[in-house]
Amino acid sequence: MCKSMVVKAPAKINLGLAVLKRRSDGYHDLLSIMQQVSLADTLTIEPVRGAGLSFSCSDPSLNGEDNLVCRAAALLAAQTRKALPGVKIDLYKNIPVEAGLGGGSSDAAAALSALNRYWRLDLTAQTLGELGSRLGSDIPFCLQGGTALASGRGEVLQPLPGLSFFWVVLAVPAGLGLSTASVFRALNLEGAPRPPIRRLIAAVQRESREEIVNWLEERHTNSLEAGVVAAYPRLMALKKRMRELGLVPVMSGSGPTFFALTGGARLAGNAVRILRDEGYRAYLCWTERSTR
Ligand code: C5P
Repeated sequence: MCKSMVVKAPAKINLGLAVLKRRSDGYHDLLSIMQQVSLADTLTIEPVRGAGLSFSCSDPSLNGEDNLVCRAAALLAAQTRKALPGVKIDLYKNIPVEAGLGGGSSDAAAALSALNRYWRLDLTAQTLGELGSRLGSDIPFCLQGGTALASGRGEVLQPLPGLSFFWVVLAVPAGLGLSTASVFRALNLEGAPRPPIRRLIAAVQRESREEIVNWLEERHTNSLEAGVVAAYPRLMALKKRMRELGLVPVMSGSGPTFFALTGGARLAGNAVRILRDEGYRAYLCWTERSTR
């Protein structure tokens, strides 16, 4: 019998995101620095008699075979002719859904790497990355973690020096979720700003906290932000409130989560408490380095 496993699936933030062009395959070329944070979902993997996968999720709306965890398991199983032992996966969600934090992608990445061990498939990190990229553009990053420059549609990665410790405040209006596809579809690329990601790369490579924080204070850090904020005025109110609380709020990915980095534990803790009191979903977490 295989052994039970408990694995974490951490969220990511995009420190900056520049959309470069629309491609003929429906995706967009982009340049983004992605960063692993400590907020995480948990997957519990247990042996069951017989074959097949049984899956359940703490969020009932995410139950079912089209969950990326089930699709990752099926894709992995299709890589071998061996009869694979049965498995039960329970997914406990902490990361808000459709929030720009890569929650679903990270669940799929955790399933790919855990089932590769559970089923003793011995697939390389490169093969897992290729499989992951078929399921979602952010999955290769989620497999790798840490800090990386993502290009192509997000699946081409160049590792960067791990960011030093920052507290990370995450906040999103309760009940607001956005599908990545709909945000990209609504993007007016001609009118969208193109943030100076090269300067952010240089700051991360120099490991300069000051330059990274200064960059996040730029007027534009994410090509998708202006369109999303214009469509959801509640986000303008959230940004304003985060600023009043002494933070520098920046949108992650396709939104609608805003994050802020800070070295101040008390500032971050107070902000999260106040934002929660005001009805936002807010989280206190921190930047993490890759453990893989
Ligand atoms: O890769 P993923 O499945 O997460 O992407 C979801 C949708 O977001 C894609 O079908 C596409 O419409 C859009 N997308 C995009 N350009 C990217 C990533 C995603 O247009 N680089």
